[in-house]
Amino acid sequence: MLIFALSSVLLSIATRAVEAQVTVYGQTPLAHQSTSVAAGDAPLPTLAAYDGLVLTPPTPPTPPVTALALEVARDASAVPGLSIPHTRAGFFGFSVEIWKELVSNQGPCLKREFSITDALVPPTSSHLFVPFLNLMSNLQERSGSILIRLGGNTQEYAKFTTEVFEDGRITHKEDSGTTQTTETPAVLYTMDLFYMAANISSLVNVDWFLGLPFNDTSTFHMEIGELGQAILGDHLVALQAGNEPDLYGPHNKRPVPYLPVDYSAELDRLFEVVDTNDRLPIKNKFVAPSISASQLEWTPELVWETGFIDAFKDRLFALTVERYPDNNCFATFGVGRYYDPQENFHTFLTHQTVVEFVGYYGESTRLAQEAGLPFIMFETNTGSCGGFPGISQSYGASLWILDYGFQMANYNFSNALLHIGGQNVYYNPWISPPTNQSNFNEWTVGSVFYSAMIIAEAFGKSGTARVVDLQSPSAFTPSYAIYEQGTLSKFALFNYIDDPSGANNVNASITVTGGVPATVRVKYYRAESVSSKTNLTWAGQTFGNNFEADGRLKGELSIETITCDTTANVCNIPLRAPSFALVFMDSSSESLSVGQATATFATTAHTRARNTATIDPAVLATSNGHSGLERQHMGSTSHGSVSAASRQYELVSVFMVLVSAVVGGFIVGTGLTR
Ligand SMILES: *[C@@H]1O[C@H](CO)[C@@H](O)[C@H](O)[C@H]1NC(C)=O
Ligand SMILES: *[C@@H]1O[C@H](CO)[C@@H](O)[C@H](O)[C@H]1NC(C)=O
Ligand SMILES: *[C@@H]1O[C@H](CO)[C@@H](O)[C@H](O)[C@H]1NC(C)=O
Ligand SMILES: *[C@@H]1O[C@H](CO)[C@@H](O)[C@H](O)[C@H]1NC(C)=O
Ligand SMILES: *[C@@H]1O[C@H](CO)[C@@H](O)[C@H](O)[C@H]1NC(C)=O
Ligand SMILES: *[C@@H]1O[C@H](CO)[C@@H](O)[C@H](O)[C@H]1NC(C)=O
Repeated sequence: MLIFALSSVLLSIATRAVEAQVTVYGQTPLAHQSTSVAAGDAPLPTLAAYDGLVLTPPTPPTPPVTALALEVARDASAVPGLSIPHTRAGFFGFSVEIWKELVSNQGPCLKREFSITDALVPPTSSHLFVPFLNLMSNLQERSGSILIRLGGNTQEYAKFTTEVFEDGRITHKEDSGTTQTTETPAVLYTMDLFYMAANISSLVNVDWFLGLPFNDTSTFHMEIGELGQAILGDHLVALQAGNEPDLYGPHNKRPVPYLPVDYSAELDRLFEVVDTNDRLPIKNKFVAPSISASQLEWTPELVWETGFIDAFKDRLFALTVERYPDNNCFATFGVGRYYDPQENFHTFLTHQTVVEFVGYYGESTRLAQEAGLPFIMFETNTGSCGGFPGISQSYGASLWILDYGFQMANYNFSNALLHIGGQNVYYNPWISPPTNQSNFNEWTVGSVFYSAMIIAEAFGKSGTARVVDLQSPSAFTPSYAIYEQGTLSKFALFNYIDDPSGANNVNASITVTGGVPATVRVKYYRAESVSSKTNLTWAGQTFGNNFEADGRLKGELSIETITCDTTANVCNIPLRAPSFALVFMDSSSESLSVGQATATFATTAHTRARNTATIDPAVLATSNGHSGLERQHMGSTSHGSVSAASRQYELVSVFMVLVSAVVGGFIVGTGLTR
């Protein structure tokens, strides 16, 4: 609690320095707040997740940037450097660390209330969160499926229990009593974890990664894998074997020195155990090494040089890494150096930092391709230790995340998972309201969710999307071309500059070898300013501002038509400062017509307290060919035979997972020394 209080002070100092009104929530655990909340009101505007800080945009460049000339071939075969096809088209998935309390590796305990219940399922009801289902439905409509990882540092101490908890708590921890784990007690989870995931996957096409505990590799605890394989079936993509092992040494989880060969030896032992375990029929769907490379003790190359890929490629579904561009650990935990959001905002408004960050993995993605393995950024976002006030929820940062996604795709990453951190972090792609008194339509959708949705739309469902960075001369106006089925299909064009005068509005002139079409259609992602956190629109539609979302896009779909000059072979695409444009070269493209997903989940009740949220059969009757009744049945996580009261406790136990080293999720995860 000491550190927590300190961090509040530090953050409010930081805030004052940039003249804004964010204060940091510091004392009462959120779920215990019983303030009554009217629909649409901000119940606790001081929480990081609803950060009100609006930064000052950087000064526009002089001389201004006004033009961007691009010339590409229509035929993919004529384009050097195109990426691999992006077969799992929703390039961005999500990473959910399920914890109840954050325990710093440095010792002191920070009491926090985040758990999976902030993002995926209500804590004390036996139903699923409808806004969450709506958000997933919007992604599914664009990309076909969504990846979600449950795990993180807290997975290390997760422990399966067949018990049902009597006190109704959402999470339970157990003091494991060993020196290694005094600061990171076990988190108990039950069968309901798997049923929850399976129920979600029966409604929306979510595929899961689950983390295996790696705290004690002399006795592997494999229930997560066993039950995951049994209950999730094909919706379980892979099991994560070890999370950020490069930090096991520095964080006293292993005797030092702990080197890549030591980690490999533990993986060898894991696969011996896997091979003799009949309850794990699938023996080759794991991901590793998930290093953070943050303290640069283990670079990816140091791991590859041990022969890692050859040794394990037959066991692995993918190679994984985890990384954030920077950290806010000083403000959050008093560790490291102070990060000034205003001073650093400009680093999120340029293509240069994207290229540097992603380029670090160039050799790694080449090796992965050689081995025939996907390469996944397993956990990332704008900043570790909670992200940054003013930055993480801004329109500008979501442009950066979008650029970062395209760049990873260009560098042959297969996917990247955006971390969801809960009420006390700044960067959530989405978050349920902070109290147990909240309504269905009071969710908050963060700016980076738009990034995930837009890239899903850009790559579409064909499984053939390949992308190339067109190397714009200005770092303020990055541009990419996307090819599908071997043919140019879209351009992704950015203008990072904030200039209300219009002097930096850019004309992007597109020329295509093989000829431009008579017209192109354009969807814009817009906001007033790079610092805006409200009124974000994608093709004219929005999820709404903080506490206004139900997961459905609102407003009319607005697609602009631009007439090209076929004689001069050029299309001029206006890019106001700031903006992002997705230019559809094929006006019959399927994703052009996608606005709000046709499959939506409405609710007749809300997720208030322990009421149940039920899905409206009338609405579902029109969705996806399932009957309403069937859907409603599938949507419930209830055991019909269990009484309501005992059911609550049982369900509560679902989310039980992972109380523990949260800093894990943050500090451990992330790069203190950078
Ligand atoms: C909200 O949660 C608190 C603490 O868990 C509880 O005391 C209160 O009764 C709850 N409110 C409602 C409306 O259930
Ligand atoms: C590892 O974690 C499990 C589950 O929490 C716990 O039972 C076990 O005691 C831990 N082992 C060590 C060596 O910390
Ligand atoms: C991605 O992979 C393709 C196909 O192997 C290759 O041509 C291209 O250069 C790679 N891109 C980068 C940035 O490494
Ligand atoms: C951009 O192009 C439009 C016509 O497409 C033209 O009217 C305008 O002057 C151009 N602006 C700049 C800054 O070149
Ligand atoms: C957001 O949009 C609404 C409705 O169009 C408008 O009233 C409001 O002023 C806008 N807010 C900002 C910050 O632009
Ligand atoms: C949904 O969860 C219940 C248990 O809560 C389980 O019995 C049922 O099989 C699950 N449905 C699916 C489709 O996984």
